[in-house]
Amino acid sequence: MEPGSRRLPAAVPGCPRRWRRRWALLGALLGAALALSACLRELRRRGSAAERPEGELTVLLWWEPFGRPRRPADCRRRYNITGCRLSADRGRYGEARAVLFHHRDLALHGAQGLPRGPPPRPPRQLWVWMNFESPSHSPGLRGLAGLFNWTMSYRRDSDIFVPYGYLYASPSPRPFVPPRKSRLVAWVISNWNEEHARVRYYRQLKEHLPIDVYGARGMALLDGSVVKTVSAYKFYLAFENSQHTDYITEKLWRNAFAASAVPVVLGPRRANYERFIPADSFIHVDDFPSPRLLATYLKFLDKNKLSYRRYFAWRNKYEVHVTSFWDEHYCKVCEAVRTAGNQFKTVRNLASWFES
Ligand SMILES: *[C@@H]1O[C@H](CO)[C@@H](O)[C@H](O)[C@H]1NC(C)=O
Ligand SMILES: *[C@@H]1O[C@H](CO)[C@@H](O)[C@H](O)[C@H]1NC(C)=O
Repeated sequence: MEPGSRRLPAAVPGCPRRWRRRWALLGALLGAALALSACLRELRRRGSAAERPEGELTVLLWWEPFGRPRRPADCRRRYNITGCRLSADRGRYGEARAVLFHHRDLALHGAQGLPRGPPPRPPRQLWVWMNFESPSHSPGLRGLAGLFNWTMSYRRDSDIFVPYGYLYASPSPRPFVPPRKSRLVAWVISNWNEEHARVRYYRQLKEHLPIDVYGARGMALLDGSVVKTVSAYKFYLAFENSQHTDYITEKLWRNAFAASAVPVVLGPRRANYERFIPADSFIHVDDFPSPRLLATYLKFLDKNKLSYRRYFAWRNKYEVHVTSFWDEHYCKVCEAVRTAGNQFKTVRNLASWFES
């Protein structure tokens, strides 16, 4: 039935006129509502068609990271990045402007798992190598020379740089008040390996200082929340699983900074951290000749409120962003592809770059 063509119900004997008028009114309203919704639908259809003429580009995810499918992000809604279609549908290979390869899955499937055609590799298509593990945990790099056009990783010199977190100028700077602290040092560790520098350092440090260990080998986290648990502590051991350029993970950004605990870091050198965060926002294990002297310093800060509070001075000006896996990554690729020029590039020696 056409909207608006609803007829009044026939006169019903015994039905007061007043009721008939109500029916008429209701019918008219219903008709108007139907017409309006059809009109809106049409407008929406035309609107979205206009927003993505040939402009919308497809970014294809060749493997879902760790084999876990998830719904791709709406980049416009989440990050105000328009004109992107993210897809894990390999049927779109031919139209994809960029194809994303997650290293862990690539290592698992081997190079024979890469697209081989037909159709052949489109000449303008960008293959993006994506990896957020450190070189120590990235097997099989050697066989990947000359395959990819771009890199995406936590390294600042990647074609698409996506750190685990970053600081940004606070839109409304105001004095920062740290949460109440009732405990001293926390450490959350899931992958316990006696050969890791972080476990060796921990074993020496705990001889001089009580450390609360959470995770696989330790206590359970409060409500399963790292941030909530750690926020009761003055210090957090942001110890990376391996030491490499720019490899600074959520252990710093989320576990320590987002929880407002002062990070004690073990990772790349201090100068490397200072490329990303203020010098007075963290304590580096290298600042001390021995774990014993670090323990002495932490105990000093525990008793000296003013000295401890200095580690929060930067928070009056900056706020912490913790990067969200994987939506932010995919949307960044799309944005990078949109804003890139037409120059050609091939990553010649992936391994020697990434391991440097
Ligand atoms: C979204 O991006 C557009 C263009 O890039 C910009 O003009 C606009 O201000 C942005 N909107 C928000 C809410 O950031
Ligand atoms: C991407 O790399 C491949 C392999 O080296 C190369 O053939 C192709 O021209 C490159 N494409 C772009 C757009 O850089």
